[in-house]
Amino acid sequence: MAFADSLLDKGEIIPDLYDAFSKKGRSLIDVTWEQHKFHEQRRWSAAELLKDVNFDNLSKVDMVCLWNAGKAELTTKPGADRLARVADTECRRWLKEDPALAACMQACGTWSRYWNEEEAYHENIFNMMAERLGLEHISDETFIEYRKVFPDDNALRTMFLLVTSEIIATVNYLRCAAATQEPGMQAIFKQVAADEAQHMRYFISFAKALVDSGKYPAKDAFAIAQLFLREDGEMQGHKRKQIENRGTHVNWWDHLETGDIVAPDDVGQKHKMIFSALEKVTGIRVSCIAEIEETWMELVSA
Ligand SMILES: [Fe+2]
Ligand SMILES: [Fe+2]
Repeated sequence: MAFADSLLDKGEIIPDLYDAFSKKGRSLIDVTWEQHKFHEQRRWSAAELLKDVNFDNLSKVDMVCLWNAGKAELTTKPGADRLARVADTECRRWLKEDPALAACMQACGTWSRYWNEEEAYHENIFNMMAERLGLEHISDETFIEYRKVFPDDNALRTMFLLVTSEIIATVNYLRCAAATQEPGMQAIFKQVAADEAQHMRYFISFAKALVDSGKYPAKDAFAIAQLFLREDGEMQGHKRKQIENRGTHVNWWDHLETGDIVAPDDVGQKHKMIFSALEKVTGIRVSCIAEIEETWMELVSA
């Protein structure tokens, strides 16, 4: 492809990243440019979208959705900071033994800068709306609490947890978009949902690379799916009977406050997307929660 033409293509999320480095001869410079093009063509302006919102036209449900979204999005920066650190550590760990895996992890850490930036848009757009509407102010104390950096975990568990978190966010924002009567608000929810869906696709790609390298067993991804989908699991978020005091950091899904409002949701869609992500990452197909538990038990005892 001629150089000028190559500038017009929009970049892609490489689905088989391990193969791209190990078999197709792709380099970090080349993959980073792919990430950059993809990010650049998807940029948008929070200020522009805010101009189109009729603030007098927002419902109570809209306000509950956007206030919780702003607070939840505060935890994405520590998530991205943690990812940058974990990915670089993993990269250096595998550098001699498996350079392709090391490159995948460096690509992941490199992409974390775009992820961090995109999440900054989400955090700011919702928190500015909440301030403009005079909703409960988020104190500096809460802000700082929500910025606590997550502790490190195994790389595949981390990656699949992020896949799951992005799935939950995508569906939540899509449901909020469907529920609102205010076109400007709907455009914002849809834009943010589109970002979250792309983040999910990136995390699936990095998680798949870990499994494809043969260094990370599929059971790690299943362990996270099981953690979320088991009875009274993380998927229930703030509705769980028992929410552990994590001490170290804030998990946004533990702290949603909806009062007497029923927030828009589609749990069935979240389940389907997790089943699909598990298959893309591990190659193992499951179609119900019971199968996740069965498969996880089999993989653990194998
Ligand atoms: Fe977000
Ligand atoms: Fe996201």
